[in-house]
Amino acid sequence: MNPELGVCYYPEHWPEEMWAEDAALMVETGLTWVRIGEFAWTRMEPTLGDLQFDWLDRAVDVLGTAGLKVVLGTPTATPPRWMLEKHPDMLAIDAQGQPRKFGSRRHYCFSHQGYIEECARIARIMGERYGRNAHVAAWQIDNEYGCHDTTVSFSQPALRAFRRWLADHYGTVDVLNEAWGNVFWSMEYDSFEQIDLPNLTVTEPNPAHVLAFRRFSSDQVVAFNKAQVDVLRPLTDASLLHNYMGRILDFDHFQVGEDLDIATWDSYPIGFLSDRLEADDAHKTAFLRQGDPDMQAFHHDLYRAVGRGRWWVMEQQPGPVNWAPYNPAPLPGMVRLWSLEAVAHGAEVVNFFRWRQAPFAQEQMHAGLLTPNNKPAPALAEACQTASDLAELGAVTQTQTDVAILFDYASDWAWTSQPQGAGFNYFRLVFSAYRALRRAGLSVDFISTTNEPLAGYKLILAPGLATLDGHLEKSLTENCNLAILGPRSGAITHDFQIPGSGRPGLSGLDCEVDLVETLPPNVRRDVDGGGSAQHWVDRLSGEAADLLTYSDGTAALKGEEGLWYLSGFPDEELWDRVITMAALKVGLDLYPVPTGLRRRETEQHVFLINYNATPVVWSGHKIAPCDVLILDKDTAKKG
Ligand code: GAL
Repeated sequence: MNPELGVCYYPEHWPEEMWAEDAALMVETGLTWVRIGEFAWTRMEPTLGDLQFDWLDRAVDVLGTAGLKVVLGTPTATPPRWMLEKHPDMLAIDAQGQPRKFGSRRHYCFSHQGYIEECARIARIMGERYGRNAHVAAWQIDNEYGCHDTTVSFSQPALRAFRRWLADHYGTVDVLNEAWGNVFWSMEYDSFEQIDLPNLTVTEPNPAHVLAFRRFSSDQVVAFNKAQVDVLRPLTDASLLHNYMGRILDFDHFQVGEDLDIATWDSYPIGFLSDRLEADDAHKTAFLRQGDPDMQAFHHDLYRAVGRGRWWVMEQQPGPVNWAPYNPAPLPGMVRLWSLEAVAHGAEVVNFFRWRQAPFAQEQMHAGLLTPNNKPAPALAEACQTASDLAELGAVTQTQTDVAILFDYASDWAWTSQPQGAGFNYFRLVFSAYRALRRAGLSVDFISTTNEPLAGYKLILAPGLATLDGHLEKSLTENCNLAILGPRSGAITHDFQIPGSGRPGLSGLDCEVDLVETLPPNVRRDVDGGGSAQHWVDRLSGEAADLLTYSDGTAALKGEEGLWYLSGFPDEELWDRVITMAALKVGLDLYPVPTGLRRRETEQHVFLINYNATPVVWSGHKIAPCDVLILDKDTAKKG
C-alpha cells in the first residue's frame, strides 16, 4: 500500500473561475484526493425538491479531470433551514429539555424518522447521479457523528424509540424491573409507556436506566448511518466511509464501522492537547505547538481496528484551528510529522483540512494550506515535502503487533453513568495504558470485545472493562500468553448489577474485589518498590499470588498463569513496572524511548518520531526536532 495525500475543498465557497487553478495547484503539491460536498445541502437543494446539481457536476468534473480522486460527502450533518419547516420536531433536545437550534451544524436528532428518510432521499439522489461517476472514488456519509455532544438527545422521537427499544430488549416490564433493580426507591414500572428518558430527575437516575439509554443512543447512530449505506451500496462500487472524531466515545464505532469499508478520523493534535486531554501544565507547555505525542497514534491504532485494517486521516490540522481555548501555530515540521506518523500507523490517505482558509463565518480563523487571499500558508510547503517523502518511501505495510489493548465503548458509557470517583474515566485509564506501552517503544493494536479474533498476541491489556462474559474470558485466556485486567474490570453485569459470582468473576483467577475506594488527585497508594495507584483502588483477596503489594501489605497486582489483575489506576512508574514484568514473562522485547520520542514498526520500517522541539539521540540515531527518521528494518536491527 502506497500512502497518498489529499485535501478538503469547498467549491461552493469560491467563484467557479478559481476551481481549475485550485485543482492544478493541488496536483502540483502532490495531492491525489479531494473531499467535497459534505456541508453543501442548500446549494444542492435550495428549497425542498428544487435539485441543483449542475454546479457539483462541474466541480467533480474539474477536479477529476485534473487528476484528483473525489470523496463525495452526503450533506446530512447540515440540514437546511427549510428542513425544519417540514420537520419542526427534528432537533435534538438537550438534557435540560432545551432544543439544540438551527444556526451551526449537526442540528438533528438521530431518532427522527422523518429526517432519516430525508437523508436517505438525498443520498439516493446523489448516488444515482454520481455512483458510477469515474471521478468519485469514495463516499463520506454525514460528518463526525457525535461531535458537539450530539449523540444523545432527549426529544419526543427519542423517547418513543427508546420505549420500543426497551420492549424489544426486555420483552416484559417485569423483566426490566428485575434487571434494573427497580425495587430500589420504589422505581418499579407497570408498563414500558411509563418509562421516561433519564434526564431531569431529582437526584441521580438508576445507572442501569442510563446505561440502557446510552446503548440505545449508540444503536440509533448505527441505524442512522446504515440508512444511507443501504441506499448507496447498490448505486456505487466506491468505498463508503465516515470521519470519526478524537475522544468521542458516545457511540460504538466498531458497530458503525462494520457497515462501512474504511474508517477515517479527523486529527487536530494541537486543538486536542489544549481542549480534551488531562495533563499537567509542564506537559501542555512542552508540546503546545506539537500536540501530545500519543494522542494521534492512539486514535490511528483504534481506528485501524474500527476499519478492520483500512483507515485514513480525513482531516489533518494544517495550522492554528479556531475552536480550542488557545490556538497556537504548529512548529515548523509538525504538519509533515503528523502526516508521516499517520502513514507509519497504516493510514492509506491523509487529507489536509482545508485547502483555503474561509474569509467568512465560524471558521474564518481556521488555517488552511492557503490563506484567505490565496497566498501559500506554511502548511502548503510541508504538504509538498510530505508528498515527495511518500514517493520516496514507497509501500508501507502493517503487521499484527505483539501487544493489544481491548477497547470497549460500552465501558465508557457504564463508567460515565457511575464514575464513583471524579478522577476515574475510561478513556483516561486506557490512554494511560497506551502511553506506557509506547514509552516502552512498543507498537500496539486495538481489539474490540466482539468483532476481532484475539489470537496471536503475547500480551493483551483490558483495563476498566466493565462487563466480562464467559466468551470474552475464554478468548482472553486462550488466545494470548498474558492478559492483564483491572482496575474496575468485570465489575458489573450487562444490566449494571454487581455480579453474583463476586468480581472480577474470572474463573481462571482466584481473586476477588472486597472493597473499592476512590481517591482525590493528591492522594496515592504507594506500591513497594516504586510507583503508586491513583483515582481508583480495588481491594483484592484470594489465593492468586500477590505479584506486587502496596506499602500496607495488601495486593496491588495479583496473578496466575496467563491472567493478572491490577488493583489500582497506575501512575506512570507503576505502569512501567507492570509492563516490564509482563514483557519478561512473555518474552517481549522492549525499546524504552525518551520523552517525546515515539517508535512505530511496520513490515518494512521502523519510524522514529520526535515530538520534541529539541533533537533526540536514541540507539545511535539522531532525530532532529519535529522530525521523523525512517529506518529500514535491517538497519534498525543493527542499530
Ligand atoms: C472538524 C470538522 C470540519 C471542521 C474542522 C475544523 O471537526 O469535521 O468540518 O469544522 O473540524 O477544525
